[in-house]
Amino acid sequence: MTATVEIHHGDNLSVIRGLDDGSFTLIYLDPPFNTGRTRERAVETASSSGTADAASVVRRGFHGREYERLRGDLRAYDDRFDDYWGFLEPRLEEAWRLLADDGTLYLHLDYREAHYAKVLLDALFGRDRFLNELIWAYDYGAKTRKRWPTKHDTILVYVKDPARYWFDSEAVDREPYMAPGLVTPEKAERGKLPTDVWWHTIVPTTGREKTGYPTQKPEGILRRIIQASSRPGDRVLDFFAGSGTTGAVAAALGRHAVLVDENPEAIAVMRQRMPDATVID
Ligand SMILES: C[S@@+](CC[C@H](N)C(=O)[O-])C[C@H]1O[C@@H](n2cnc3c(N)ncnc32)[C@H](O)[C@@H]1O
Repeated sequence: MTATVEIHHGDNLSVIRGLDDGSFTLIYLDPPFNTGRTRERAVETASSSGTADAASVVRRGFHGREYERLRGDLRAYDDRFDDYWGFLEPRLEEAWRLLADDGTLYLHLDYREAHYAKVLLDALFGRDRFLNELIWAYDYGAKTRKRWPTKHDTILVYVKDPARYWFDSEAVDREPYMAPGLVTPEKAERGKLPTDVWWHTIVPTTGREKTGYPTQKPEGILRRIIQASSRPGDRVLDFFAGSGTTGAVAAALGRHAVLVDENPEAIAVMRQRMPDATVID
């Protein structure tokens, strides 16, 4: 079976609204941390009527009142987060609609947003849908001497249905034990299952993987996610695709990928990285 990659160039909200309910086993999202206020407001206003259906389904279906109250409190408390969430919320509601019953959503966040997002997502999707908080720890770049240098990202993981979600730990590449002398040689040879803390280098500044796209994530991080939470032949979605790491890894693992980005530079990088992909403007 040949894995297909479809790349859409455009604003993700309008693209994903045209995709079918429940059609993705895995959705990975790595949204930008700082987006411009004016543009966010414009996008939100322009989209509010179109998202009403998806939004009301999510709010009615889960914890509507609690969510509305929390959202109001957090937005009033932090203006910057208000902007960020105003942009993200309608896209997350669409993502939830697009997830299959056995599907999983991975949301890659900055430490400044992660805790607000966790509280809101628990209220929006349901706390019982929360599966994991993954910490991706790296050690690169300048280090402040005024506090603990921040060298991690947070990835929140939610499942559409806690009784049915797909998760295959056996399919995940194992990693070396920290103290191999404490386990049998057979165990040391096999390696251990990764936990929820992932030590992984950033994309090496030289080497095969590097595309030059500024926010590119390492293939190793996406490989684990895709191996665990999808099967060959499943459909994977990334609508903040950037350099297309999700698509490149998904295709290499035999999954079908749908990617969206509004930045022409991202589309150019993705074309080069995945020359067989179909590009839709
Ligand atoms: C943090 S980067 C993603 C990097 C990606 N994970 C990778 O490995 O290369 C976020 C991406 O979202 C895109 N983006 C931001 N807002 C968007 C929108 N409304 N519609 C489509 N793409 C958007 C940006 O152009 C950027 O490429």
